[in-house]
Amino acid sequence: MADKWWETAVGYVLNPQTFLDSNGDGVGDFPGLTGRLPYLKDLGVNLLWLGPIFASPMDDNGYDVSDYKSINPMYGTMEDFDAFLKEAHKLGFHVLLDFSLNHTSDEHPWFQKALKDPTSKERDYYIIRSGKKEGGKLLPPNNWKSFFETSAWERIPGSEDFYLHLFSKKMPDVNWTCPELKEQYYDALRFWLDKGVDGFRLDAIAHLAKDMSFEDGTQNIDAHGLSYDLTKFSNRPELYDILKGLRDEVFSKYPCLIVGEVGGDITPENALRLVNYGDGVMNMIFHFDTAWNNGAYESYDKSDADIVTDVIQMKDNFMRWYNVLNGKADMPLYWCNHDHPRVLSQYGSEQYRNESAKMLLMTILFLYGTDFIYYGDEIGMSNVHYDSLEDFAMHDSGNRGEIAALQAKGYDDERILHYLNRTSRTNARTPFQWNHKENAGFTTGKPYQKLNDNFPSVNLQDEMEDPYSIVNFYQYAISFRRDPVINDIVLHGPLSLIDRNHPDVFSYIHEGSEKLMVISNFRPYTVYFSFYFQINDILLHNYGDVIIKDHVFELRPYESFLLKIR
Ligand code: NOJ
Repeated sequence: MADKWWETAVGYVLNPQTFLDSNGDGVGDFPGLTGRLPYLKDLGVNLLWLGPIFASPMDDNGYDVSDYKSINPMYGTMEDFDAFLKEAHKLGFHVLLDFSLNHTSDEHPWFQKALKDPTSKERDYYIIRSGKKEGGKLLPPNNWKSFFETSAWERIPGSEDFYLHLFSKKMPDVNWTCPELKEQYYDALRFWLDKGVDGFRLDAIAHLAKDMSFEDGTQNIDAHGLSYDLTKFSNRPELYDILKGLRDEVFSKYPCLIVGEVGGDITPENALRLVNYGDGVMNMIFHFDTAWNNGAYESYDKSDADIVTDVIQMKDNFMRWYNVLNGKADMPLYWCNHDHPRVLSQYGSEQYRNESAKMLLMTILFLYGTDFIYYGDEIGMSNVHYDSLEDFAMHDSGNRGEIAALQAKGYDDERILHYLNRTSRTNARTPFQWNHKENAGFTTGKPYQKLNDNFPSVNLQDEMEDPYSIVNFYQYAISFRRDPVINDIVLHGPLSLIDRNHPDVFSYIHEGSEKLMVISNFRPYTVYFSFYFQINDILLHNYGDVIIKDHVFELRPYESFLLKIR
């Protein structure tokens, strides 16, 4: 862990299938991505996290892997990947791959062998248990509920056994107590590191350790008796040892960055155990505590007016993590990713697209950690307005599970559609909008995922031509953020909130060799903010003039400042 190169990086997260299609088959691919590396370089990012790229039947966006040492033919060949990696390195990027260690696809040869032959060694790679007999009926081994709303167990046809799947039934969970399974994963991870990739985002890492007694869950029991009990399969103490094995056998041998996705209610204290500078087993973790601070999660019964950002809760969530991890561990900084709706629609506003996109960037950029920008945020991409459930269901088993569950609860399709347009992760998986021409310049074929129909007015080409555009602001702000003096302040200077109780404004000071202050209005209307500091310079601002009277800022909709203060 000697050279912590990520501490001077700004990351960019992208979905390979919706970035750029070079061969007209409607799916983004490596040649397309390679051709756009100069754009990303100009934007100023230098660390790329690619969504899953391995062979996969694509039940869950490629997180259902059927061969860990291959490239999904949708994206090109291994040679195309090698050419991409070489070019990316030449241009100064580091590259992270997304790697699922919690489950494979049911089409993975390991699982196929496990199914076919109960005596095979692969049988122990998975979690397979006999069903329970009750009143002449064969029931799953326990009441655990999957993240995709069904029982977490699926019966193996022709037998009385069931396999565990915490996500879709096409994604059987693997068994991290099996020594040979571990070796298989060590080997696959080394394969990519030996090729030169710079690290991984480890998917669903929170769930690798399960309660192997498989007792029934006791929390969140639904009408069908299914229990969504995270204590049984999330962030359990045994997780540390599994990750330690990975660190000692693989990661510690390479100068790589390991970012774990640790959703599911982890506390900052437990996270610190995993990522601390001393005996940590990864470098950073992604949690989701700051992603849904507007009440939109599971908001089927809410009207649009009920969805309001709780700015105080958001500030507290950022600071809760900062207070525990700062100086002891690295952290990523991000708003949302491919599992959330677009941040502009979450916390910003389509009406104030330009102002709110810039405000969101300024707010996140100078907190504590390594910034990760989500593709398309730099041009103000926002949620879709699809008019059919099928557009959501088509490529996402998560959406399919949610639609079925809501229909079963009696919600009509119109309401479900409204809810998905607000919250579905498909919102953040639409093709990048390169220009205002056919299919936004993403493909000459039929796009894999339906485009956001706002591309005639929201696209990179138009943005580039406007000096006040979001993308030009991003470029300037990122280059400012990467300045070594600023980077040092962001990583090593003390951070504190100003006016924590202000319900509309997120303001903080980050001190170091300079004193930086961010003031951001999260509302679509004017608010007031008292200010008693001396301004040395306005470093970034998303309006043309400043209104301050008697030590009170008048902040217009989504107005935001980065100030140098004394
Ligand atoms: C987390 C990923 O980010 C999400 O997209 C996926 O559905 C699950 N893990 C399962 O792999």
